[in-house]
Amino acid sequence: MKSDEKQREMILHPIPPLFDRESRILILGSFPSVKSREAAFFYGHPQNRFWKTLAGVLSEKVPETIDEKKAFLHDNHIAVWDVIKSCEIIGSSDSSIRNVVPNDLSEILNAADIKAIFCNGAKSFGYYEKYLKKKTGKKAVKLPSTSPANAAFSLERLKNEWMIICKPLKVAPPHLGNVLLGWYDYNARILPWRSEPTPYHVWISEIMLQQTRVEAVKKYYERWMEELPNVKALAEVSEEKLLKLWEGLGYYNRARNLKEAAITLMEKYDGELPADYNELLSLKGIGEYTAGAIASIAFGLPEPAVDGNVLRVFSRLLAEEGEISKIPVKKAIAREVRRILPKDRAGDFNQALMDLGAGICLPNGSPHCERCPWEAACLAHKMERETEYPVKAPKKARRKEQKAVFILELENNNTKIILHKRPDSGLLPDLWEFPNVEGIFTLQKAQEQMKEWKLTDYEIEALGEGKHIFSHVEWQMTGYRVRLNAIAEDIIERQEWKLVSREEFESGYAVPAAFDCYKKRIHWEEGKDS
Ligand code: ADE
Repeated sequence: MKSDEKQREMILHPIPPLFDRESRILILGSFPSVKSREAAFFYGHPQNRFWKTLAGVLSEKVPETIDEKKAFLHDNHIAVWDVIKSCEIIGSSDSSIRNVVPNDLSEILNAADIKAIFCNGAKSFGYYEKYLKKKTGKKAVKLPSTSPANAAFSLERLKNEWMIICKPLKVAPPHLGNVLLGWYDYNARILPWRSEPTPYHVWISEIMLQQTRVEAVKKYYERWMEELPNVKALAEVSEEKLLKLWEGLGYYNRARNLKEAAITLMEKYDGELPADYNELLSLKGIGEYTAGAIASIAFGLPEPAVDGNVLRVFSRLLAEEGEISKIPVKKAIAREVRRILPKDRAGDFNQALMDLGAGICLPNGSPHCERCPWEAACLAHKMERETEYPVKAPKKARRKEQKAVFILELENNNTKIILHKRPDSGLLPDLWEFPNVEGIFTLQKAQEQMKEWKLTDYEIEALGEGKHIFSHVEWQMTGYRVRLNAIAEDIIERQEWKLVSREEFESGYAVPAAFDCYKKRIHWEEGKDS
């Protein structure tokens, strides 16, 4: 009997396969080493570079404990097993393996949508080809072995070769972070809030930029900083002035929340924004996106800032098939953003993504892929399907509301107009509006409305139609200008109206943009007597 035959033992694979329904790739080794068999977990030999290679490829911390390794595989949608179910083997030596009985992979392949199978090393690949390929009907890809026996391959070289697992995993390749920064260095937009990105400047600009175009925000931002240059000024501003500074930007609660957060900052933080993601998140009106933007741009903290633009860019980059408004899909994308975010330039990276979304990876119509720094990596572009992403749920039809809007002008020396305060809840709470009534109107019906309001001495003129689209409602309006020659005090009181002069209208009463089409139709006549 030869000496190696004495030591050769018949061994049954002692570790169950690791996978779940979300697994996207399967990595197969040949058979566990002695150390792995002892630890009853995959790749337990301290010199095997499996965990370091995967962590390097995926830009993650190297998992140390078995629990960390399981979580790491689960989070990254990787299944792991080996090709051999039982064999005779001497110690850990792959070359000593005899009498192979292969594993049955159907348990994994039936449970998960495995997009690709990778073999860790030539031995595993050889056994896969010999025993399993026919059964699975799937090709496997041979990767260089991470075993210490393959010491000729440096960790760096292993990482480069193993990078191909990113594609079926839909993982953003980590080098894309620096590629984007290289583009940003030449293409960054020059914007007012970027010249001095203090926490206050970044905060205000980011809140204004939610739901509002950059071009529209610029003048609001400049005016705001003149009037309210710091947290203290914001905490002390009157509601009237606050809303006036916001007039036309929409979503007025953003302004109210800013003031409330400023008061908290004065009371608890000495008027400074905290340099901490979670503390920022605790402030009124600051959600995950804004906390990430302030933390990264103003404080240089390595936090992602994921808004609709970033979701769109990444859903195309990764050809994400999940519906973009779903929380798990958003979480998966945020994970990819974090994966490639260069920690030393997180603020620039987040702003580069904003610029990419605003100028290149456009939402409607065709994006400018030919100018995109990520063109070569973008999976949607490769399939020429970029406009099919992000995947969206069918839009719910907007509710339509018809209403008549009355510009009631009192011609009494200087023109005054009538405003009404909206209720303190519902759409546009506490803002001012022109008196208006629900329904489809004709001039005759408008005159009946005047009767109802007990207004008799007037001339009326139709102003035509106007439309304003909110997220869930569309206002379809018909406007009327009414020149009142007189109005009794008790009518004004009964209707809870307010008579305001032009100066008051322009400085103290925030009338939402929904009424813009009629605001410009007011006839301001001034100082007829003087
Ligand atoms: N959109 C949201 N935040 C932005 C920023 N800081 N710069 C440009 N566009 C943005």
